[in-house]
Amino acid sequence: FRTLDQVEVAGKRVLVRVDLNVPMKDGVVTDATRIDRAAITLAELADKGAKVIVLSHFGRPKNGPDSENSLSRLVAPLSKALGGRPVAFAEDCIGPKADAAVTALAPGGVLLLENLRFHAGEEKNDPAFIAALAQNGDLWVNDAFSAAHRAHASTAGLANKLPAAAGRLMQAELDALTKALGGGDRAKTVAMVGGAKVSTKLDILTNLVTRVGALVIGGAMANTFLYAQGHSVGASLCEKDMADTAKTILEKAAAVGCKIVLPVDLTVSGEFKAGAENSVVAATEVPDGKMALDIGPASVAEARKAFEAASTLVWNGPAGAFEIPPFDAGTVALAQAAAELTQAGKLISVAGGGDTVAALAHAGAVEKFTYISTAGGAFLEWLEGKTLPGVAALAA
Ligand code: 3PG
Repeated sequence: FRTLDQVEVAGKRVLVRVDLNVPMKDGVVTDATRIDRAAITLAELADKGAKVIVLSHFGRPKNGPDSENSLSRLVAPLSKALGGRPVAFAEDCIGPKADAAVTALAPGGVLLLENLRFHAGEEKNDPAFIAALAQNGDLWVNDAFSAAHRAHASTAGLANKLPAAAGRLMQAELDALTKALGGGDRAKTVAMVGGAKVSTKLDILTNLVTRVGALVIGGAMANTFLYAQGHSVGASLCEKDMADTAKTILEKAAAVGCKIVLPVDLTVSGEFKAGAENSVVAATEVPDGKMALDIGPASVAEARKAFEAASTLVWNGPAGAFEIPPFDAGTVALAQAAAELTQAGKLISVAGGGDTVAALAHAGAVEKFTYISTAGGAFLEWLEGKTLPGVAALAA
C-alpha cells in the first residue's frame, strides 16, 4: 500500500480517518495516546499544505446525534496534540454543514467533522453515505489501525471512491506487527497470552500455535488448561466446559511443534481481595477452596526462559489478577523481564489489545517495549490471523 511518501497532498482535500475513540471521564480525556499518535499524521499533512479533514467515530451511538458522543469535545484535546494549531469543527460529517466547512478550509488548516456514527450509513458501509463523504475529499488517508477490524464506510468503503494511503500510525502499527509475528523464524517467536477466559481467546490461541515456537499461557485461562490435563483447580476461575477445547489446542500445538508453557506454580488465596493472605503452590496441587490468582515465581522463570530463547515476543493479556496486589506480582515480573530483554537488544516486543496496556503500565514497562499498539479489538483480530478490512482496503 501507499504511504504519505507516495502521495501529493499540497492544496488537496485529504480525508483522514483517525481513531479519536478515547477514554473520557467527566468530559476529560483520560488517555490521549490515540490523539497524540494521530496528530503526527495530521501535522505532517498540514505542514505539506493539505486541507486536513479529520474523520472519526466515538462510542457506539445508535440513535443519531447525542451530546455524550459528540466529537466537539475532542476539538481542544486535538488542538493541544497539534501543538496549539487551531482545529475547526463541523456539526455534521456530511451534508451542507460539512460541505461549507470544507469549502472554508485553507491549505494547511485542520477541520474535525462530527462523529461518523451519528449516521447509520457509516456502520452499514452504505454507498450513499460513502459518496457524501467522498465528495469532500480528493484523497483518503487511513490512520485508524484500531478501527481496521470494522468494514465501515470510513474505514473501508472510501477506498472504492478515492485514492488511498496509509497514515503514519497505520504504517507504524503494521510495521511493528509484521516484524513481531511475520518475521519468518517461527521457532524464535514467542507469544504470551493471558486473561480470564479461554472462550474469548480461542481463535487467538488456535492461530498462534501455528505461528510461534512457544506460547506462554497465563491468567485464569491457564486454569482451564491445567484442569484439562487432569489437575485439580480448587475454587479457581475455570471454564470446565472448555476442557476438551483446551485439550485440542494442546494436541494441535504438539503436532506443529509449538511449545506450550503453562504455569508450574501458582499464587493461591481463599479470597479475591487486595492484600489477601496467600501462598505459592505447585500448579498441579491447588488445594480445595483456594483460588489461583497469579502465576508463581517458578512460572515467571519458565516464561522468562521462553522469552530468552526467542527474538520476538507478542504479548496480550495479564498473567494474573494484576489489578489486585499482591496478585500483580507475576504480571509485573514477567513484563519487566520482557522489558529488560528488549532494552538489552535481545528481544523485539510488541503488545496490545484490551487490558494489556494497563497491565504493562502498572509494571512500568510500557516505554520499554519495542512497540505498544493503540488497538484493542483490532489487535485481537489480527492475533486471530484475520484479514482486517481497513488494512485490506489500503492494499486493494
Ligand atoms: C476501539 O476502541 O477498539 C475502536 O475505536 C473500535 O471501536 P468499536 O469497537 O466501537 O468499533
